[in-house]
Parts: sequence; structure tokens; C-alpha cells
Amino acid sequence: MNAVPKPPLAMPAPLVSASDIVQEYAKPDGTTLRVLDAITLKFERPSINMLLGPSGCGKSTLLRMLGGVRPWDVKTPTSGRVEIEGAVCEGPHRDAVMVFQQYANRPDLTVRQNVAYPFQFLEWKRRVSKTEMDSRVDEMLKQVGLEDKHSHFPSQLSGGQNQRVALARALVLRPKVLLMDEPFGALDAQTRSNMQALLLSMHKTAPCLVVFVTHDVTEALLLGDRVIVLSTQPARVIDDFQIATPTPRTEGWLQGQEVRQLHERVVGHLRAAGSRGNVRVSV
Ligand SMILES: Nc1ncnc2c1ncn2[C@@H]1O[C@H](COP(=O)(O)OP(=O)(O)OP(=O)(O)O)[C@@H](O)[C@H]1O
Ligand SMILES: [Mg+2]
Repeated sequence: MNAVPKPPLAMPAPLVSASDIVQEYAKPDGTTLRVLDAITLKFERPSINMLLGPSGCGKSTLLRMLGGVRPWDVKTPTSGRVEIEGAVCEGPHRDAVMVFQQYANRPDLTVRQNVAYPFQFLEWKRRVSKTEMDSRVDEMLKQVGLEDKHSHFPSQLSGGQNQRVALARALVLRPKVLLMDEPFGALDAQTRSNMQALLLSMHKTAPCLVVFVTHDVTEALLLGDRVIVLSTQPARVIDDFQIATPTPRTEGWLQGQEVRQLHERVVGHLRAAGSRGNVRVSV
């Protein structure tokens, strides 16, 4: 008797994929500005992916699009598509959250209330019980080291502490996708270094897909499992490489010849794109 052939095993869909993305905006003079051009990227698994490119090339546009966040008055993307776990993403996705440089904490809410804020929304109330919400918020405050500041207001916190609140608010939802737009760009070097270490340790506790926009090449090499470089407008992917060395990575590692070459390679791309003033080469 002939054996019945087994169907091929289905490959799981990438966590996030962007296929042939073009984004255009209308300019006031009636012409069109093409910002993103033929961008195809796949993010297969929880990992930290650093996104670099010259100022104004379209990084934030692409990042928002990966979570389904789009301007109300512009068709986004103009063509191509973003999928999350195989489903076309046509609006803000419940498993994707964003963290910005301007941490967007509500000034009228305490630290604890800010971290708990996403649970206000009806959908989350249905998904998570009050007890579970409280325990998740407590756990996040502990992880970001702000337990003793739980009743402070944002105006009573430093920039780094405010960014910790924003990170806790994002991760309290246990997102599959965390989109970070220059989150540590406004912090001093020491605080930025502390926040980088915090992100790595929180990512080990709860792995998710992180796409992280930065202008800082050293930050990209210290944090990234993968580094993606975009060209100047209209942005295309001009480099895309993996870094296998486990995190956290040391200063000594950064000084190694191979890493110095990678550093030069990325800086070279950015300089070629004419963004010399926006390349930060050391932490
Ligand atoms: N809603 C919009 N309507 C029209 N033009 C827009 C809109 N959003 C962005 N742009 C334009 O698209 C381009 C890319 O903007 P974007 O904010 O994505 O760049 P960026 O790479 O994040 O820049 P930066 O490094 O300065 O943060 C810019 O020229 C910007 O003016
Ligand atoms: Mg931006």
C-alpha cells in the first residue's frame, strides 16, 4: 500500500513583515514627496532590531507603520503591506506598543496611575482581571526601580525616571511588538547607559520583538541582534546585518577590530547619505 504523503509543515508567519512598502506624502505645492521606497523587511522572532538612517529619511514613518499607527489623513502605506503574524495590519495593533523620546507621561497622573493607564481601555479590562492588573503594575514598578516613587507625579521625576515610567507603561501590556523611537536620545550618557542595560534585562525576562530607532551607532551595536540602515530620502534598506554576540556587550567587545569595522561601515553609510551632523559615534 502506498504511504499517504504528509502535507508540508506550514512555516509560521513572521512576527512582523513589511512587503514592498512605498510611502508618499502630498507637498503643499501639489507635488508628491516619496519618503519610503520598496522597503521589504521580515522580523521572524523576538529580538532587538536597530534602525538607523539620516535625519528625515522616514524612520519614524516606517516604525509607526509596523504597529499600524498612521496619520488620519494619509493613506499608509501608499502601497505594499505590513503583516503581524500573517494578518494584514490596517490600524493600531493591540499587540504593538510605542515608546517615544518625549515619554508622553500624563502630568496629572501619578507614576503608578501612568503605568496602569493602558488598562483603562475597555478591551484590556476584558482581557485582564483587576487583581492581575494590579500585580502586573507592581511588578513593572519593581523592575524599573520606581516602587518608592509610585505616588510621585511626572514633574517630580528626572528625565531618566520619566523614561522608565514610559517603558513600564509599554511593557505592562506584555506586547509582542515594542516600537521605540529614539527613546533614550534626550538622556545624558550615564542615564542612557543605565536605560540600555534596563531594556536588555527586561527583554531577557519578557522577550518580544523590539524595533528601535536610533542615531547613535554605538547604541545600535551594543543593543542590536540585528542592525538595519536606511538610505536618505526616499529611504531604502542599504544595509542589514546580524550581531551574534550575546548581550550585554562590554566596552572591550566594542573596541575589538571586527566591531570597529562594523562601526565604520555604518558610519560610512550615514556619511554617504549626507547626515554627518546626526551621527553620534560614542556613548
Ligand atoms: N503626515 C505627514 N505629512 C506630510 N509629510 C510627512 C508626514 N509625516 C512625515 N512627513 C515627512 O516625511 C519625511 C520623513 O519623516 P520621519 O519623521 O519619518 O523621518 P525620520 O527619519 O524619523 O526623521 P528624524 O531622524 O528627524 O526623526 C519628512 O520629510 C517629513 O516631513
Ligand atoms: Mg523620527
